[in-house]
Amino acid sequence: MKILVLPGDGIGREIVPEAVAVLKTVARKFNLELSFTDGLISEDAYENYGHPLPEQTLELCKQSHAILLGAVGSPKMDQLPVELRPERAALLPLRKKLHLFANLRPIKVYETLLDSSPLKPEVVKGVDILFFRELTGGLYFGPKQREVLADGSTQAIDTLVYKNIEIQRIVTQAFEAARSRRKKLTSVDKANVLESSLLWRETVNAIAKDYPDVELNHMYVDNCAMQLVRYPSQFDVVVTENMFGDILTDQASTLGGSLGMLPSASLGGEVALYEPAHGSAPDIAGKDMANPMATILSAAMMLRYSFHLEEPAQAIEKAVNAVLNEGYRTPDLMAPNMTKVGTVEMGKLIRERI
Ligand code: IPM
Ligand code: MG
Repeated sequence: MKILVLPGDGIGREIVPEAVAVLKTVARKFNLELSFTDGLISEDAYENYGHPLPEQTLELCKQSHAILLGAVGSPKMDQLPVELRPERAALLPLRKKLHLFANLRPIKVYETLLDSSPLKPEVVKGVDILFFRELTGGLYFGPKQREVLADGSTQAIDTLVYKNIEIQRIVTQAFEAARSRRKKLTSVDKANVLESSLLWRETVNAIAKDYPDVELNHMYVDNCAMQLVRYPSQFDVVVTENMFGDILTDQASTLGGSLGMLPSASLGGEVALYEPAHGSAPDIAGKDMANPMATILSAAMMLRYSFHLEEPAQAIEKAVNAVLNEGYRTPDLMAPNMTKVGTVEMGKLIRERI
């Protein structure tokens, strides 16, 4: 079980070592042979190889079974021309080149964090949603262009493209997941306006015939944004295209109190990628303040989805739950009467519980 470790930028350099240490603890406890290799992405890669996603890193990715990524994005890299910025030159090509079309983002509201939610406890209690975000199509990857028009104005174009086969493969995965959960699937689109959404909806309806046991409903994205706040426990599995999924999962993450709790798995190719859904948070980087839980929970997803190690995965999830129950909180989750801890201490507490 070969794991490539890409800490990336900002808080990635603090939270990833905690998740690696957690994996090593689990490996000892369950006698697993996990091997770790370090690789460079974004700023470190640019400084060493002149590109945020060098061939050397891609090669390492292809030689591993799973990748643990921290986050990319830094003020320094923002000064570079857009072709070299890590979001567009490293993260997106990494997802595309590894064929990681299915991005799973589980939204779980922990009982002990009910008070950290910006919404009323009775609204968010028991929320358990699994998002399937399409990750290698849509606006992120369609042709882009910028041109100066005859009247002297400047025009920018992003193109929203989907093939039915790209829709089929993610929707099928979402139906399968719904079947193994509470058997409800919500497909989110904007079929009242967008042609790609019309194709999305037709494709979903065709696949639904193979899943008569799953209750399907279609929801417009604007309505979904509202429903997520009004009545989030109506959702079980949600499937949607790339950009809608990006936006809705950030919104949904806060139901549970913090984006710092949201892990993700990107699947579909031979190698899978595990990363927290949050960014590199340069404002708190290097201050021992970042919540390592999203990355640690991403490591649990790695054990589950890449290595089919359900019990070790649950051991991590239970340890996270236990530490929260005992009242330990990183600053993003801090509430009255709780014990505030930093990144390193939080990692250590989780390892002790394992
Ligand atoms: C995410 C992030 C990325 C995305 C950014 C960093 C390009 O927001 O993984 O959700 O938009 O996909
Ligand atoms: Mg995002």
